[in-house]
Amino acid sequence: MPPTVPFNDLHPRFAAAAAEYRAAVERVLARAWYVLGPEVEAFEQAFAAYHGGGHAVGVANGTDAIELALRAAGIGPGDEVVTVAHTAVATACGVERSGARPVFADIRADDYTLDAAALAAAITPRTRAVVAVHLYGQAARLTDLRAVADRHSLLLIEDCAQAHGARDEQGRRVGTVGDLAAFSFYPTKNLGAFGDGGAVLARDPAFAARARRLRNYGQTDRYHHADPGGFNSRLDEIQAAMLTVALGRLDADNAERNRLAERYLRGLALADLPHPRPGCEHTYHLFVARVPGRDAFRSRLAARGVQTLIHYPVPVHLQPAYAHLGGREGDLPETERAAREVVSLPLFVGLTDAQQDAVIAAVNADLLAHRPAA
Ligand SMILES: Cc1ncc(COP(=O)(O)O)c(C=O)c1O
Repeated sequence: MPPTVPFNDLHPRFAAAAAEYRAAVERVLARAWYVLGPEVEAFEQAFAAYHGGGHAVGVANGTDAIELALRAAGIGPGDEVVTVAHTAVATACGVERSGARPVFADIRADDYTLDAAALAAAITPRTRAVVAVHLYGQAARLTDLRAVADRHSLLLIEDCAQAHGARDEQGRRVGTVGDLAAFSFYPTKNLGAFGDGGAVLARDPAFAARARRLRNYGQTDRYHHADPGGFNSRLDEIQAAMLTVALGRLDADNAERNRLAERYLRGLALADLPHPRPGCEHTYHLFVARVPGRDAFRSRLAARGVQTLIHYPVPVHLQPAYAHLGGREGDLPETERAAREVVSLPLFVGLTDAQQDAVIAAVNADLLAHRPAA
């Protein structure tokens, strides 16, 4: 039996602007120019303008965007990059593919983002950069992280894959405080394509130019190649045309996600809910609560027809793929506790109030039934 409330459903997103999306695809088909053309340029300009300036470079996906951001800044073999282990594994993949060594620092208990003190403690003479992840739609502590990065002359790179449009407590859009930023446009992201896509955002035009060359075989002019290690990480015209439509809807979509989040925050009787940090604009890419006894809770919700997911059940430092880095259980206590306790509830554009009320009723009935004895 399908769940009463699915974790996600992408149909409503397309349906809300079907005519615009269809027109965007038709435009590309009529032009018959499919890769790195006028649609990519137009999207890059619109995306940079949305961030108040800088230079955007459309690439194939968010993992490549992290790799390219690092490589564009000259970071590679022999360098260390501090990041978090409580994230999509792609953050670490991107660092690793740049040739640099990922070094994992712990997160804060309150908002799951990189802890500035843990970052400072992880810095060695080889550290060149920090990749801060704006997890679940909430900005990382950019003021504190920027201060540590500046004190140690490190580059600050923002992984914005889960937080398009979010703002920190100083009102700054994520992606505009770091030296470079990486975005994913995977379909489930707040700014989602209809296939894979990503972007690098850079303040320094030289970094942007290098990322632009590297995404296209290191090419400067047709059949002339300046940068070694170039590869194919191009954004295609159909995705770019669709993304331009989606970008125009991003703020309204984020507002709808906030409306839904507020309904959860008011209605759910759970003790540990993701309230936005005062002064910040959260974008609720995911609505993540902490629940002791999480796995049993999830099974009971599934029996009541509510689909949930865990972001993320195994921290990156404990994944077999990163065993060679020497991570051990106990290294990152808050990261490991988050992996045991977090649960993501359904929140997407198109979730109906009735579906959401069903989630709230299921969660609250479960809490009543499983309240610890006084
Ligand atoms: C935090 C984070 N970083 C990076 C990525 C990588 O993006 P992509 O899947 O487009 O390669 C993702 C998406 O899964 C993500 O959530």
